[in-house]
This record gives sequence, structure tokens and C-alpha cells, in this order.
Amino acid sequence: MTNPIQGTTFCIHTFGCQMNKHDSERVSGMLEGLGSLLVDTIEEADIVVFMTCCVREAADTRLYGQVASLKNVPLRAGSPLPKRIVAVGGCIGQRDGEKLTEQLPHLDVVFGTHNLGSLPGLLAQAVADGAHHVEVLESSSDFPTELPTAREHSWAAWLPITVGCDNFCSYCIVPYVRGREKSRPLEDITEEARRYVEAGVKEITLLGQNVNSYGRDLYGEPRFDAVLDALDATGIERLRFATSHPKDLTDGVIERFGTLRSLMPALHLPVQSGSDRILAAMNRRYTREHYLGLIEKLRKVVPDIALSTDIIVGFPGETEEDFMDTYRLVEAVGYSQVFTFIYSKRAGTPAAELHDDTPREVIQERFDRLVDLVQRKAWEANQGELGATVPVLIEGTSKRDGLVLAGKSPKNQTVHGPVPAGRTAEELVGTIVPMRIDEARTWYLSGTVVDG
Ligand code: SAH
Ligand code: SF4
Ligand code: F3S
Repeated sequence: MTNPIQGTTFCIHTFGCQMNKHDSERVSGMLEGLGSLLVDTIEEADIVVFMTCCVREAADTRLYGQVASLKNVPLRAGSPLPKRIVAVGGCIGQRDGEKLTEQLPHLDVVFGTHNLGSLPGLLAQAVADGAHHVEVLESSSDFPTELPTAREHSWAAWLPITVGCDNFCSYCIVPYVRGREKSRPLEDITEEARRYVEAGVKEITLLGQNVNSYGRDLYGEPRFDAVLDALDATGIERLRFATSHPKDLTDGVIERFGTLRSLMPALHLPVQSGSDRILAAMNRRYTREHYLGLIEKLRKVVPDIALSTDIIVGFPGETEEDFMDTYRLVEAVGYSQVFTFIYSKRAGTPAAELHDDTPREVIQERFDRLVDLVQRKAWEANQGELGATVPVLIEGTSKRDGLVLAGKSPKNQTVHGPVPAGRTAEELVGTIVPMRIDEARTWYLSGTVVDG
């Protein structure tokens, strides 16, 4: 069969977490390999791929609206295809499969989280016969690493070390749409990291729903600290990871923050709630005291480590007292950043069966109170940087001003500063430059490039 993808254009809309973003890079890599050109807009695209998320209801409903509205966008002049091909993958594809084509009749292809590699074949079939093609697998036996990847940035790479999740937090859909936890052999991970270092990558972010339990399925015990050691030894400049589950964060991993040159002083450690009663109902399997104990150990190793977290407000049955436990925990820890979510009922999860009579306005009011506190604490955390000189990995220019550089500090703070005289933004992107911090706002720092 000739390759019907050759000479087409495509765009990808990605929702959800870094796993999806990384999967989108793999989709790009495959389609580019088949001679399709990545474009920015739906108007220019012959093939539109949605990489979807269903972790909360908002993302779910948005997809349906977006796919439906595609009907009114004409195919570009000169397209080799008779009509635009629309594909839905990711977590909604995995969850809904065939059902999606019933609700969205002009959808051409549906694929899931276990069969990214099937996409080119499904697209080719849809072009050839104009019919729907749906393929969703229950699970896959291999770790999906054999697919090409088109990385978004030349200086940064995401490196998946596990896929899936076995934790079954009672509110969460992820274990149902990403399947059981699977670790990737350590040699594979190191090999990929070495290739990145050789290609000039400055920062690697290790990915998994719960990186701390890495290796339990392969080696019988978690070996995440061994992954960190191996990555550090590749010579990578900056190493980060996400996400950590507090029940599996070991002393060995905490120690690495003090001993490994490349491991950046920032950790995302989702707490979800500060109330033991709610933590138990969430099936998180740790207590408030255990969590605070981890924070204490981390700060012993790196006193000014930047901590971030995720919090759910309005879990079924959460009382004002439970909420205040969360509020006080946020106040005590002093996070640099907190991702706050209002509980969203996900069909099929155990929490969806729980009764809740807390009025929506009460939940919203608590949420707003928490957001105010989070902002105040983030502002406070940033003030400590005033006057310091920090190495900033330049990622590009500010969205609002092309003459202002934007980059990341070791603690993952966004840093802005003017392009120095005699230099251009283009030549600085992807390099690490020292910047002195002159101003500290809630969500970013401003500084000046100093001679290094
Ligand atoms: N594996 C990661 C991230 C999972 S999803 C972890 O365990 O931390 C990212 C965040 O979405 C979660 O940390 C949680 O705070 C939030 N989330 C998940 N399910 C949710 C739901 N049903 N309602 C509201 N927020 C939810
Ligand atoms: Fe969801 Fe919990 Fe797994 Fe995170 S650890 S993906 S919150 S089930
Ligand atoms: Fe969303 Fe799937 Fe990630 S549900 S948060 S894209 S694993």
C-alpha cells in the first residue's frame, strides 16, 4: 500500500499531564517520519489529533465541544486528502472507545493509551475507506519505547521510566485509563539519557505516575534511587522527576537531593489533603504526620528546597475542620506552588459512590480561601531570592515581550530578564546563564544577566 500520510499536514491538541505531552511527542515523531508536516492550526491541518484527559470533568466536556466545532472548519486548498481526518487518543479514547464515534459521528479514528503505535495504520485505513476505525487495547505487554520521538525543545527531554498506576486513590481515574504500573529496564533508561546528553540536552525530567515505586514489578523492590544515580552519572546538567507519592518516598531518594550534583532542589510531592480522615477515605495510605515528617527530612538535607503539591478541595464528606487541617498544613509547609483542584466525580471510581451534601458554594468558598493562602505563601517563598544570583536555563522569550528572556531557576521558578546588550534571544535559548534577581513576584522572578 502506498503511504497516504505522505504530503499531508497535521496538528495535535494535547490536554492533561506530562505523560500525554510526551505521548504527543511520540505521535509527532511517527507522523513526521511518514512525511507529514506539523502545523500550528486546525485550519492548516489535514489530520487533527486530540490527546485527551479525563482526570476531571472540565477536560472531558471541552473535548466534545472542540471535536464538534471542527465540522465547520473547511479543509485547506491543496490538501492531498478528500476530507480532514480527526483522531482522538489518550485517556478519553482509552475510556470511551467505540462510544465516542456514536456521539461524534464525524470522528475517523479512536485509539487508546496502550497502542500509540497503531495510529499511522488506523489513519491510513480511514483515508483509504472513509470509515471509522477504533482500536483500544486492555493493556500492552511492552514498555512503549520503540516509537520515534519529536521533542518539543532541543535542550529538554521527558523520559518515562514507568507507565500506569497501581495506587487506586479512591477519586482517581488514572489507574483505569493507564493500566497497571510497568517499569522500564534501567539499562534502557540510561541508554536513552546518554543519547540525550550527547545531543546537547541540558535537562531531563523523569516521568511516571509514581516514580518512587519504580522497579517494584521488575526487581521485586523499588529502585528509584538507583535510577537517580545512573542518570547523574550520564553527566546531565539538570535532573528532575514527577510525580512522587508520599507513601513511597524513601530516605535513599531524599538523601540524593544532598549528594547528586544534577538533582535540582525542587520536589513536587502531592499531599491531596491535610486531614487524616480524608486521606484514609482517599486511599492515600499515609498520614499527615508521615507527610510532615518527609518535609522535615527533606529540609534537613536541602534547607531551601522548593516544594510544590496538589490539593483536592471538596472530597465527599469533607468538613470545615478537615478543610482547616489542609489549610494549616499549607501554611506550615510554605509551598512555592500548589495546584488546587475542586473534587470532580469520576464514574467508575470508588469515591463516585460516596454521598455528599456539602453545598457547591461552600466548597467554592473554601477553595477561594485556599487559593489566597497559596498565593501569599508563594510570594513569601520568592522573596528569599532577592539579590541572589541563580543559574537560569533560558527557554525562550516572555509571551508578552520578545525582548524579555524567560527561563527556569534550579528551583523551577520562572525568571524573566532583558536580553543583554550585544546578545540575541535566539543564541541564549537552551543555555544556562547566571542572573541576579532584582524583583520577586508571586509567580515569577525578574533579574539581569550577569557576566558568568
Ligand atoms: N500521579 C500523580 C498525578 C495524578 S493526576 C499523583 O498521584 O500525584 C494530577 C492531580 O489531579 C492529582 O494529584 C489530584 O490532585 C488531581 N485529581 C485527580 N483526580 C481528581 C478528581 N477526581 N477530582 C479533582 N482532582 C483530581
Ligand atoms: Fe491517581 Fe493516585 Fe495514581 Fe496519582 S497515585 S495517578 S492520584 S491513583
Ligand atoms: Fe489526564 Fe490521563 Fe494524565 S487522565 S492527567 S492525561 S494520565
